[in-house]
Amino acid sequence: MDDAKPTADLGGKHIVLGVTGSIAAYKAVGVLRALRDHGATVSVIMTRGAAQFMTPLTFEVLSGRRVVTDLFEGHETMPHLTMSEDADAVLVAPATAHFLAKAALGLADDLLSTMLLNVRGPIIVAPAMDGDMWTHPTVAQHVDALRARGVVVMDPEVGPLASGRVAQGRLSSEIKILEAVQVALCPQTDWRGQRVLVSAGPTQEPLDPVRFLSNRSSGKMGYAIAEAVRARGGEVVLVTGPCALAPPSGVTTVQVNTASEMADALSQRFASCTVLIMAAAVADFRPRVTASGKLKKQGKHEIELALEATPDILGMLSARRTSQVVVGFAAETEQVLPHAKEKLRGKGLDLIVANDVTQAGGGFGSDDNAAVILSAAGEQRVFGLMPKRRLADEILNAVRDMCLMAPRGASLVE
Ligand code: C5P
Repeated sequence: MDDAKPTADLGGKHIVLGVTGSIAAYKAVGVLRALRDHGATVSVIMTRGAAQFMTPLTFEVLSGRRVVTDLFEGHETMPHLTMSEDADAVLVAPATAHFLAKAALGLADDLLSTMLLNVRGPIIVAPAMDGDMWTHPTVAQHVDALRARGVVVMDPEVGPLASGRVAQGRLSSEIKILEAVQVALCPQTDWRGQRVLVSAGPTQEPLDPVRFLSNRSSGKMGYAIAEAVRARGGEVVLVTGPCALAPPSGVTTVQVNTASEMADALSQRFASCTVLIMAAAVADFRPRVTASGKLKKQGKHEIELALEATPDILGMLSARRTSQVVVGFAAETEQVLPHAKEKLRGKGLDLIVANDVTQAGGGFGSDDNAAVILSAAGEQRVFGLMPKRRLADEILNAVRDMCLMAPRGASLVE
């Protein structure tokens, strides 16, 4: 079953979408469509800068409403008041450094900045700019000032920017922006009361002080799960191997390197969690000996490495559990379902999330994934390729429905 259809969870909500003059203005089209797909009505305000990148007509057609760009234009006498009063939330995406400065200081020289001073509902801002601009102390100060006032300022993503550089400054993904609006307007609380231990990323098993054995895991799936639990009201401790990802906000993050460090970090916290979700790609083998100095070539043409098995963390914790729900992952390259079923049984899990890491567009490093979720009771849910953040929600739905609501799990209902 692939229930990938969006829900109308924003039905009845009216959102004012402010678009400012960043090259990322074209991405606001996707954001607008995502909001509408989720049932919201949307009015767009463009700044003069935005109108240099996109025509109002594009947003007019897609929103089905007149796009306002100027405080003094049109038929309405006071659009800055009427538009803000009608809005359940205001989303500014993309937001430029100039916009952040105006909003932080309360300057009101166009329709968008003026109406912001009259908004009662949540304000969500998704910045996009070059990396050096985002880290500039003045911009940081304005972001802090806005956050202190309760504005949700999203962290832009790290990636290639219009300048050609790779840095933090890319507009957050459509799904993350959508999620920020959903959380601001209708926070989901079905994981409230759960204390969730999530593992993520690869482990690094040292050969010597400069070399290690590891794998291609990016940590994206585990981080997405941690973020999803947090967004749905649960408490999260994220135990993570080395990843190039920013720790999700509101989540306690514990950094580890090796499988044995990960085992210790999880072991210490296992007794007090209600759910363990083991998304980490833990190394199965490590060098039997870690050299204290850098291994030298010394004219050798080959060397043999003696490897030993690492602790099976999941199996060990599963055997120790009292009432915890235990969820594992099976990253496979062949015979995905038989191998996943074997792991589910062998490790005594409640649920396993199986995926074929060779599938194009999914697996390690990708933003998307496809998966089959299997429960110990024999239930199965199949999900086609979708963003990992969305799959994270589907995994949480499955854990909730198949384990937490079932008699032996902790109850989600307060
Ligand atoms: O046996 P396999 O490594 O394929 O099982 C995968 C599952 O077991 C994942 O959930 C992974 O996090 C976990 N695992 C573990 N300890 C290991 C190896 C894998 O907890 N040493």
